[in-house]
Amino acid sequence: MILGVLGKGGSGKSTVATALVNYLRAQNKSLLAIDADHNMDLSHNLTTGIDTSPQTYLGSGLTDLYDYLGIAPGVKYDMAFLSGISKAFSLTPLDSFSEKYSLPLDTTTHLMTAGPQTDAVLHGKTCSHILTTPLKLFLPLLTLQPDEYVVVDEKAGADGVTTGIVTGIDVGIIVVEPALHSIKTAKQIAELMDFYQTPYVFVGNKILSSEDQEYLAQELNQAPIVYLGQNRDIQKGHSDFAITWQTELSMIIKTATTINMNNRTERTKIKFARNLSFSSAH
Ligand SMILES: Nc1ncnc2c1ncn2[C@@H]1O[C@H](COP(=O)(O)OP(=O)(O)OP(=O)(O)O)[C@@H](O)[C@H]1O
Ligand SMILES: [Mg+2]
Repeated sequence: MILGVLGKGGSGKSTVATALVNYLRAQNKSLLAIDADHNMDLSHNLTTGIDTSPQTYLGSGLTDLYDYLGIAPGVKYDMAFLSGISKAFSLTPLDSFSEKYSLPLDTTTHLMTAGPQTDAVLHGKTCSHILTTPLKLFLPLLTLQPDEYVVVDEKAGADGVTTGIVTGIDVGIIVVEPALHSIKTAKQIAELMDFYQTPYVFVGNKILSSEDQEYLAQELNQAPIVYLGQNRDIQKGHSDFAITWQTELSMIIKTATTINMNNRTERTKIKFARNLSFSSAH
């Protein structure tokens, strides 16, 4: 199952993604962590003290991805997907593309990183979303066994949902703080997820009181499936939050498993076809 962690900037996406990865690691699940944000907080959280120098960033991998899938250079990825691609990616065994573009963290866990801002992004020639373009084909073409997991730490805000990889994920984990603008963004994301028929849950974060919980439930028009407490140790990076939040993380995985529709490929086809017909009509 592919979980995409979404939410407003600073809501706690990378913290929750890190906790989910470490929780699943502790259960020896076969796992791929994907850092789709150029601030690379998930990568940093997971690799402190590890030599990451051999890592190749996914943002530079589009040509290799095309080669692996047998797509001719210059063909648009959505066109290629709609005409049918017979190759797939897999975690067990790890396919050659994923092997090149990920860093092993242990025998069953790999980390894929979209990468830092490139010169082209820094100089305004292209938008940083380009770093995640390979994921638009990679995720819907990734074949997973029932006990294999992918956790994607997404970019902040609702914008990443429309330009991003929404149909490539199975379930969205929308992290939301009890704060007006965090809730507004969470609701915008939820609306877009509905449009793309991608299931999601809300996770309340930085909760201090039962009033915070009630406020979130009321403003979201539905209660988050779990509430994660505001925790100073987490903020300072001192605590193993996979252990602190064990019960809540287990609930997130359980609920996500129940609402997963296992139809990434079909949803992606619909999205690409709609995008192409919109482009030709405008
Ligand atoms: N439950 C919590 N208790 C205390 N601090 C938290 C909690 N969750 C997150 N934080 C802190 O809030 C800050 C933002 O968290 P995080 O980086 O996970 O958010 P984000 O949504 O990934 O941000 P960005 O949009 O910049 O990627 C960090 O300093 C983090 O330590
Ligand atoms: Mg982050």
